[in-house]
Amino acid sequence: MNSLWYKDAIFYELHVRAFYDANGDGKGDFQGLIQKLDYLRDLGIDCIWLLPFYPSPLRDDGYDISDFYDVHPNYGTLKDFELFLDEAHRRNIRVIADLVINHTSDQHPWFQEACNSVDSAKHNYYVWSEATDKYKNARIIFLDTEKSNWTYEPRVGKYYWHRFFSHQPDLNYDNPEVQEAIFDIACFWLDKGLDGLRCDAVPYLFERDDTNCENLPETHAYLKELRRKIDGKYQDKVLLAEANQLPQEVRHYFGEGDEFHMAFHFPLMPRIFMALARKNRQPVVDVMMQTPYIPETCQWGLFLRNHDEVTLEMVTEIQRAYMWYAYASDSRMRLNLGIRRRLAPLVDDDRRKVELLNSILFTMPGTPIIYYGDEIGMGDNIYLGDRNGVRTPMQWTGDRDAGFSNADPEQLYLPVISNPVYGSQAINVEAQLRTPTSLLNTMQLLIKVRKKYQVFGRGILEFLKPRNKCILAYTRSYGGDTVLIVQNLADTPQPAELDLGQYRGTVPVEMLGGTHFPPVGELPYMLTLSPYGFYWFFLEKRNNSIAGMSK
Ligand code: GLC
Repeated sequence: MNSLWYKDAIFYELHVRAFYDANGDGKGDFQGLIQKLDYLRDLGIDCIWLLPFYPSPLRDDGYDISDFYDVHPNYGTLKDFELFLDEAHRRNIRVIADLVINHTSDQHPWFQEACNSVDSAKHNYYVWSEATDKYKNARIIFLDTEKSNWTYEPRVGKYYWHRFFSHQPDLNYDNPEVQEAIFDIACFWLDKGLDGLRCDAVPYLFERDDTNCENLPETHAYLKELRRKIDGKYQDKVLLAEANQLPQEVRHYFGEGDEFHMAFHFPLMPRIFMALARKNRQPVVDVMMQTPYIPETCQWGLFLRNHDEVTLEMVTEIQRAYMWYAYASDSRMRLNLGIRRRLAPLVDDDRRKVELLNSILFTMPGTPIIYYGDEIGMGDNIYLGDRNGVRTPMQWTGDRDAGFSNADPEQLYLPVISNPVYGSQAINVEAQLRTPTSLLNTMQLLIKVRKKYQVFGRGILEFLKPRNKCILAYTRSYGGDTVLIVQNLADTPQPAELDLGQYRGTVPVEMLGGTHFPPVGELPYMLTLSPYGFYWFFLEKRNNSIAGMSK
C-alpha cells in the first residue's frame, strides 16, 4: 500500500442525495451511487468525498446530524453503505466522508437530554451561558441568517453556543466525554472501511475568553490527539481539514505532520478567479508566496467550487468587492460573504475559461477536488434558497429528471436545472460521453495525463516571471522530472517570453498531444497562447525517452 496515496489522487466531492436515485423516490441513494461507480472510475477518480449521509432533520443538508451511527433512511441502510464501500474499493476507488465534529443537530438525543435535564451528563456536552456577552470576539459565520452565536433555550433558562445555524448547537470540547464520543464515531466509520474523514469546521472546537475562538491551542491539541489515536489503530487513512483560514493559520492544522494529512487551500481559490477576471497572475502568485512550506507527508486540497458558496472571508474587503462585481452582479448570487454559483455559470459558460481554471486546479501544488457536475459544466439555480442552487440533481441524460430519477419531477428533492443553457437537454453525461470534444472528455484527458506523473502531486513550485502579466507560468519539479505550465489569463492571444535558462537543452514535450516543441536554447523561450490557452510541457532531457518519464 502507498501510504501517501492522497498526494497523487484525484478527489471527487458528491452528495448521495444528488447523484442517482435507484428506488424512484426522488432522492439519490447508495444503491444509485453504486450504479454510477463505473462512471467515476472511467473519469479517473481515485477518491470520493461523501457529504454527510447520516440521519438528520436536513436543515443544513445533513451537516445537522441527529444520529452519528446510521445512514439517513432517504439514502438507504448501513448495509447499502457497506455494499457501496465494497463496490468502490473493488474499482480501486477510495472513499472519505464528512465527520461533523463541531456541533450536532438540536434534534440529536444528546441535545434533547441536555435541555430536558440540566442534571444529565449530556447537559455538559454543550456550551451554556446566562448571558450573551460571552465570547463576543467570535465572528458570526452565517451572517445572512444568524444575529448571534447564542440562542436562548427556555427549558434550561440559558443560552447555548453555536457557530453556525441556531439549530446546530456546538459541542463542548472541554468535556472529556465529548472528546471520547467523537473519537468513537470516527472509529465506527473507519472500522467500516472508510479511507478517511473530511473533518468539518475544525477551527471552532474550543472557546476561550478574549479570543476570537478560532484556531486555539486547545483545538490543535485535541486534533493531534485524534490523529495519534487514529494512527495507532489504522493504516493509510487520510484526515482532511476544513479550516477556512489564512494560509499561515491553516499551516498549523498540518502540525509537524502529526495533525491533518490534508487541508483545503481556501485562500487560493478566490485568487484564481480574481486573476482570471483581472487578466493578471499577481493574485495567485501573491497567495502562493504567502503559503508556508508544509511537511513532506502533507498535502493541500485544491478546489474551484464545492457545495458551499465561493467563500470570500479570506480576502481583503477591496478584493471581495471586486469579486462581487466580477462574479455576482445579481444580489441573489450572494450568500453571507460569498457567491453561491457553480463553476460554469461563474465564467458565463465560457468553455475556454472552464478548461483554463481546471488546468490551474490540476497543476498547482496539491490534490485536486472536483465538485460533482462541474466536469460536465452543470449550471445552478439562484432562485433556490441558501446553497441549494448548487446542489441540484446530477444531469445524466436529456430525459425526464435528467436521468437522475424516474420519480415525478415534482417529487425530486430539488428541481433539475431546466433553462436552455444549462438544462439537462443541453448539459448531460450521455451526450458528452458521445462527443469526443466535450468538456467531460477533456476533463478525462487532463486527469489521465496528470495521473501519469507524480510531479503534479508532489513537485515543488517555482513561478516564472515573464514581463507579460497575463501569463501565469510555473515549473513543478520532483525526482528529476520537471513540467512547465504556461497559461494565458486573457481573452486575447498573448506572447510569453520565458527565461528557461536552467533548462537549456531540454525538449518541451506538450503533454496533452505529445508534440515535441523546439529545444530550449540560449535565448528566452518564446510561446504564443490563444485566448485562455494553456500548455503543459514535460521538459525532456536529451537522451531521455518519453516512455521513461512516467512514475
Ligand atoms: C461546513 C460545511 C457547510 C455547513 C457548515 C456547518 O462549513 O461545508 O456546508 O453548513 O460546515 O456544518
